[in-house]
Amino acid sequence: MKQKIGIIGYGNVGKSLVNQCRALPGFEVATIAVKHPKKHTSLGKNLLTGDALEIINNPEIDVILEAIDREEDALEYAQTALQLGKTYISANKKMLASHLPKLLRLEKVHGGQLLFEAAVGGAIPIIRVLSTHLRGQEITRIRGILNGTCNYILSQMTARSISFEKALADAQKLGFAEAQPTSDIDGHDAYYKSYLLASIIEGQQPDVSRMKVEGIRTITQADILDAKKRSQKIKLVAEIERREGKLTIDIRPRILNDQDSLYHIENETNAVEIEGPNFQKLTLIGPGAGGKPTASAMVSDLINAQQPQVAKIKQLILALP
Ligand code: HSE
Repeated sequence: MKQKIGIIGYGNVGKSLVNQCRALPGFEVATIAVKHPKKHTSLGKNLLTGDALEIINNPEIDVILEAIDREEDALEYAQTALQLGKTYISANKKMLASHLPKLLRLEKVHGGQLLFEAAVGGAIPIIRVLSTHLRGQEITRIRGILNGTCNYILSQMTARSISFEKALADAQKLGFAEAQPTSDIDGHDAYYKSYLLASIIEGQQPDVSRMKVEGIRTITQADILDAKKRSQKIKLVAEIERREGKLTIDIRPRILNDQDSLYHIENETNAVEIEGPNFQKLTLIGPGAGGKPTASAMVSDLINAQQPQVAKIKQLILALP
């Protein structure tokens, strides 16, 4: 019998999510919650609801995937699902960064699961790498490009000499930007993602001793040209660093030269460098924004929620010739 799942949100990510989940054997998209069901009747009337709580309270649905931008609604849905011991898969960075400890407590008390691979770095499996592969390792620094919209804007201003406004409009058209792109261009989106990474490496609410958040709103074509003349590029760089046992988060535009590996990361691509004394440096690079890559990370959570790590390793061993 197929596992019934519910999806909340039918925007850029939600649409890709529905397509990717429908292509998965073993799963059935049972209900999709949308803001205006009348606008989406082509999906089938029986499949739609305007009330996300209806999906969460449905006893036949144990797994809910949510891709909406409203923080308050997402929090209510996450709390309700976790209180019922269900699996809640979210891409809502702001909601997760603001309420993670509370949600993790609910997860522990009621035996549900909160998964959020898609919240940081789009398709890059950074949450899983930090929470499984690097678990227990000392991590001294994470540095990277965590906002696809800003990187796209700065790359296009450099490559095509277009204005900030034109590049932002293109990023919005391509589905990289948030519903409120101020969150991207003022550095807040990169901050939420950095805070989530900090929470994971700390294993608790991180003690952030110093934080700086500066976006790219004031970068002009003249700034880009200046950097270009010196064979440099401007990028919005996120840095999480451990200093004297405490973490600092620093998001700001930086001028990079071509010896810096982040110099070569273009458009909506994200990159995350993780540093620690035992493994030196690991770098993960991949599509960091857009419907399909973000949905692919949610699907990865869905599959992994069903298959605990040990069972998967056993399957791999049994599959060996
Ligand atoms: N607006 C975000 C970005 C989407 O541009 O990175 C992916 O989180």
